[in-house]
Amino acid sequence: MTTTAATGASLAVRGLGAGYNGLEVLRDITLDAQPGITVILGPNGAGKTTLLKALAGLLPRRGSVQLDGRDVPAGNATACVRSGMALVAEGRQLFAQMSVAENLELGGWLATPAERAERLAQAFADFPRLHERAQQLAGTMSGGEQQMVAVARAMMSHPRLLMLDEPSLGLAPRMVDELLAIAQRIAAQGVTVLMVEQNVRKALQIAQRGYVLERGRIVAADDAQALLRSDAVRRAYLGVA
Ligand SMILES: Nc1ncnc2c1ncn2[C@@H]1O[C@H](COP(=O)(O)OP(=O)(O)O)[C@@H](O)[C@H]1O
Ligand SMILES: [Mg+2]
Repeated sequence: MTTTAATGASLAVRGLGAGYNGLEVLRDITLDAQPGITVILGPNGAGKTTLLKALAGLLPRRGSVQLDGRDVPAGNATACVRSGMALVAEGRQLFAQMSVAENLELGGWLATPAERAERLAQAFADFPRLHERAQQLAGTMSGGEQQMVAVARAMMSHPRLLMLDEPSLGLAPRMVDELLAIAQRIAAQGVTVLMVEQNVRKALQIAQRGYVLERGRIVAADDAQALLRSDAVRRAYLGVA
């Protein structure tokens, strides 16, 4: 993967709260992410997806979110993309009846046509498998390939912060490894990657930092290597007695 993407941003989240219809799910979330990979762990229903959606402007929120020291407005998805954020949502959300190339072009909706064409060429260079299948309908691809399209589409906005919500969900082990390797390559370009991942061991092995979210609160935050060794994480997430 070549290094045409903008360099990664520092994300600073302070006192974030969010929920649905007055029902509070996240309380007082404080979190930082730097260039490299930061992973968010936690059981089902902890609020991980809610957190990424609130950061991406898809849900209202309280508290402050800054990217490189600049405030990101709350509840405004377009402003979030303009400020350099991209989210690969849970379940990929592709347009099944559109081709791979068309799905990718949609990811560059804020760019000029010339920029979009350049980024599409870059995406095909970075993901040769998608180049081979540029005209295939996205809905007819395998789960892993669809997830690749979703990641490549997010990269079309040239994010400095790429958020991935369970990118390997439902994929075969080899595909899980491939997706995590893609996240690593993107991070190596200098993009800041914030990732929710159920493959706790694999995710912590490639991450620099991790947060554990339980019932809407951050209950642990540390270097990824330290979390891998911690008794609490080993017991709860790695099945170590
Ligand atoms: N659209 C929604 N409306 C109401 N409650 C929701 C909605 N989406 C999620 N929730 C609730 O918010 C909590 C956190 O969900 P979620 O963020 O999806 O957790 P996770 O991604 O960690 O599994 C859960 O109790 C869930 O039921
Ligand atoms: Mg989720």
